Amino acid sequence: MQTFFPRLLAASAMLTGTVVMADSPPAGATSCTGCHAADTISLDALSADEIVQAMADFRSGARDSTLMQRIAAGFTTGEAEAIAAWLTRE
Ligand code: HEC
Repeated sequence: MQTFFPRLLAASAMLTGTVVMADSPPAGATSCTGCHAADTISLDALSADEIVQAMADFRSGARDSTLMQRIAAGFTTGEAEAIAAWLTRE
């Protein structure tokens, strides 16, 4: 029961578009870390705002990418904000 609770919070945060800092990753966030680990294409130097902006630019095509346009297309701005907050958490 207890392990489900943060997930529900994160899920409802997605639905309402509200960013909630929860320990468990928001939907989609763990897919990022598969490619973006500390020793690959690290996102460690980026702030949450920079990640959200990069996602928007990849999605719109304003920023060239090999892969990220298709990935970014799968996320709304609210989802990208929740993911960015999780990726840059302490
Ligand atoms: C399949 C591998 C893959 C996955 C999954 C992936 N990325 Fe990426 N990401 C890349 C690659 C490759 C680049 C370099 C740009 C390009 O060619 O697409 C990149 C670039 C980025 C950048 C710009 C980094 C910089 O230094 O400016 C950000 C921000 C980013 N990704 C965020 C994300 C987020 C958030 C997710 C999860 C929703 C994600 N990525 C999932 C491969 C991936």
